[in-house]
Amino acid sequence: MARRQGDRTPLPGFEENPVGPTGREKQDFADPEPLKSHGPARIISLCNQKGGVGKTTTTINLGAALASYGRRVLAIDFDPQGALSAGLGVPTHDVTTIYDLLLSGKVDPRDAIQQTSVPGLDVIPANIDLSAAEVHLVNEVAREQILSRVLRKIAPDYDVILIDCQPSLGILTVNALTASHGVLIPLECEFFALRGVALLIETIDKVRDRLNPAIELDGILATMYDSRTLHSREVLERVVDAFGDRVLDTVVGRTVKFPDASVAGIPITEFAPEHAAAKAYLSVARELIQRGAVA
Ligand SMILES: Nc1ncnc2c1ncn2[C@@H]1O[C@H](COP(=O)(O)OP(=O)(O)OP(=O)(O)O)[C@@H](O)[C@H]1O
Ligand SMILES: [Mg+2]
Repeated sequence: MARRQGDRTPLPGFEENPVGPTGREKQDFADPEPLKSHGPARIISLCNQKGGVGKTTTTINLGAALASYGRRVLAIDFDPQGALSAGLGVPTHDVTTIYDLLLSGKVDPRDAIQQTSVPGLDVIPANIDLSAAEVHLVNEVAREQILSRVLRKIAPDYDVILIDCQPSLGILTVNALTASHGVLIPLECEFFALRGVALLIETIDKVRDRLNPAIELDGILATMYDSRTLHSREVLERVVDAFGDRVLDTVVGRTVKFPDASVAGIPITEFAPEHAAAKAYLSVARELIQRGAVA
């Protein structure tokens, strides 16, 4: 059929694919309204006991993205490896760390807060000392609630607190879940991704039953997605089959820009703001605001 003059619909073969990588219709999340007042924070744990799935990368870049929308963000390094602290370029030695706060109720949590190069994004660092916390906490009364008590004192100063968990389901992660309103699970798009997620969800359910009835699963974020490989697409399809709407529409692609930004000690939203990966984390931030997980 002949095209009418002035017809701006795309030519056949040039239509934009209306379906996103999750198989749902593509969405563009609106820029959020600025907040008129701040706090108290909603606390979200970035959790997956599988290593290297993008927990720390997501904490850094989601934190920076939320800060760019005017949200006051505090990121907690809750992994003795200290990757979050390093990724945000803050010192971890001769400073007050999260370990000091867990160990003594007398240390003021404000003394541990450090500013980052990103306006609106603060961090409480960790170092290898935190690996001793498991041993110390075992004999504490109400040992699962210690982080919760620490964060209660600073939650009024922030809109969102993101906790970067270590890759285990030990006492530290249970502390993080007990302190949280929500959990975001980063999931790498590779074959063994789904293994262990059932155990993680079981752990969240146990925490809900016994320690923190209000905890919600805020979402599952597919990371390291490579649209060129059938493998990535199949894994994502299975994840969506298993978890439905809990899988965020926004998917983070695989790119070497992340390791590069980590080495530079700044978020990708600052390192390469025009890169698709920076835009992906801005979209994750807008999607979480739209879903009500963040104010
Ligand atoms: N979308 C991505 N594309 C490519 N590389 C990525 C992506 N996201 C993260 N990475 C890289 O993968 C590695 C693991 O990521 P990250 O440290 O965020 O995972 P993690 O879940 O926090 O790991 P751990 O369990 O060890 O704490 C890092 O080198 C990071 O730079
Ligand atoms: Mg990590």
